[in-house]
Amino acid sequence: MEKESSVTPWEVKGEVDYARLLREFGISPIKELPPQLKDEFLFRRGVIFAQRDLKQILSAIGSKKPFVMMTGMMPTGKFHIGHILVAKQMMLFQKLGAKLYIAVADIEAYLARTQSLETSRQIAINDYILNYIALGLNKENCEIYFQSSRSKNSEKANSFYRLQALLSRYVTFNEFKAIYGDISPGKMSAALLQAADMLHPQLPEFEGQIPVVVPVGIDQDPHLRLARDLSQRIKDYKFVQLSSTYNIFLPGLSGGKMSASDPSSYIALTDTEKEVEKKIKKYAFSGGKDTIAEHRKLGGNPDIDVCFQYLNLLFEEDDKKLASIYNNYKSGKMLSSELKDYTIKKINSFLKEHQKKREEAKKRLGEFIKLN
Ligand code: TRP
Repeated sequence: MEKESSVTPWEVKGEVDYARLLREFGISPIKELPPQLKDEFLFRRGVIFAQRDLKQILSAIGSKKPFVMMTGMMPTGKFHIGHILVAKQMMLFQKLGAKLYIAVADIEAYLARTQSLETSRQIAINDYILNYIALGLNKENCEIYFQSSRSKNSEKANSFYRLQALLSRYVTFNEFKAIYGDISPGKMSAALLQAADMLHPQLPEFEGQIPVVVPVGIDQDPHLRLARDLSQRIKDYKFVQLSSTYNIFLPGLSGGKMSASDPSSYIALTDTEKEVEKKIKKYAFSGGKDTIAEHRKLGGNPDIDVCFQYLNLLFEEDDKKLASIYNNYKSGKMLSSELKDYTIKKINSFLKEHQKKREEAKKRLGEFIKLN
């Protein structure tokens, strides 16, 4: 049976065919990396697998020149282990010298998901930002803002919203349709606001012309194409072309993309040990055979096994250990239940640590964002 699949900024359905999307969107795989990046977990494991104009960022890193990492999140649903992939990217770029700009897409959630600004604020602060801090976000060189409230400094705020307004002159309705398919006025406005998110670090009121890298899931690429085009058309400013990196989606428990709107697809960072065990045992798609005898004889398929993907993309740092799990599972020496037990143990030991850090992070929220 052919599963229906579609990838747009506001919906990811079914299996994601990365090769096809790269071709269709005109994104390039990552080829050469400087030695300091090659060995980084996210590149080594292919979590970050594609890019646009990454070269200028790599050369800024190499020559210790300033650059910005700008990204955003729509705080709808619970923060789950799939979100860790983007969070890790933020922190990697921060470590490499980037100044971080992080947008809370509360206006987008209002326009595209009909979620109130207040709900977005609560979820962003008490779940997303809290998790970022617990995962190691550094408050130095890090600016988190809400789309609905860019800055208390009116010069900065004015210039941000001015940019969104001016950009709208340089796009036609047909281009919107070509990039997004069916699109409402609210979503057009959200797309232009996201373009302003990505471009405004380069305004004179912020950093001035500077390379900016935007790490995203591949579903967000239409927004990048729009912003990149508009940035070169608008007459009032000169922008350095945007760079972007693309991270693989963490598969949901039963395949497809892990989705915050489907609790049986995800493991949340607040899940208990028992919940994790139950979810993995009950829902995690297995590449194993139906019976033990068959599995021993024919072996399992780690490449489609969700637990193996979780180890590969997140929880097993040790390359040798990962390779031995791969081989043992494939040969039938390791059973599906054993792979599940190991994965449960890994996730739970991560969550135990993380939940402690989350508690500590509560005291530090105010260092990252204005509360009350
Ligand atoms: N649209 C993004 C999402 O759905 C959130 C977002 C808003 C964003 N502004 C951004 C992402 C700027 C990258 C850069 O998650």
